[in-house]
Amino acid sequence: MATMRSVLEPFDALPLKERLFVRGRLASAPLHELAVRAEGSVLLDVGCGHGALIALLAVARPDRRMVGIDPDARKTDWARRSVGLCANVEIVTCTIDALAAERAGTFETVFVADVLYLLDPAAWLPFLRAAHTLLKPGGRLVLKEAEDDGSWRVAKALWQERLMVHLLRRTRSSGAVGFVPRAVLTAALRGACFDIEETVSLARGYSTPHVLFTARAA
Ligand SMILES: C[S@@+](CC[C@H](N)C(=O)[O-])C[C@H]1O[C@@H](n2cnc3c(N)ncnc32)[C@H](O)[C@@H]1O
Repeated sequence: MATMRSVLEPFDALPLKERLFVRGRLASAPLHELAVRAEGSVLLDVGCGHGALIALLAVARPDRRMVGIDPDARKTDWARRSVGLCANVEIVTCTIDALAAERAGTFETVFVADVLYLLDPAAWLPFLRAAHTLLKPGGRLVLKEAEDDGSWRVAKALWQERLMVHLLRRTRSSGAVGFVPRAVLTAALRGACFDIEETVSLARGYSTPHVLFTARAA
């Protein structure tokens, strides 16, 4: 089991601002809840950002092969210069469609953490279908989003993300910034031929209404 110190160590190579960003990410999102749901040894993180989830999955686990992709070259640059230096990690700047065209049926678990809210909902189906294509038959999808649960948390999360995308430009949107009710996410997963095995609220203890789905490629 990797310690938090060993998970953070790859990011020591980055400037202070980026190191703090990764620490903030690990403190504000329950990424460990995604990591403990990994199945198999060939894993993909779509929209990996700086690679915080990859660090949780790959550090001290040389038996795993981890690929992280993100279309934002700034993000993959930070990821490559940190966790990407681990021998079992590959970071690629590309879209999920491009990877699906090259590596169909490769991965045992695909992770998607806080990416759908940055896409126009019309793009969700092709995105989730590409995730399905990338999985081995019967492979596992672990998806985390923030849900619109009507609470103060979703209003806070929306303003926070608008700040990150439009004002600070730390996060690059692919056409949207918005959260939807859990039922909409459920329907999207089913529409892309995933069997949902678990839906769990992870809002408790956080100021964001995190919701996590574990689903199998039908
Ligand atoms: C909120 S960050 C989450 C990063 C990482 N998944 C994590 O949990 O720390 C959203 C990430 O999604 C990426 N992203 C935006 N549009 C995307 C798309 N169409 N496909 C894949 N990733 C995308 C952004 O570049 C950004 O790195």
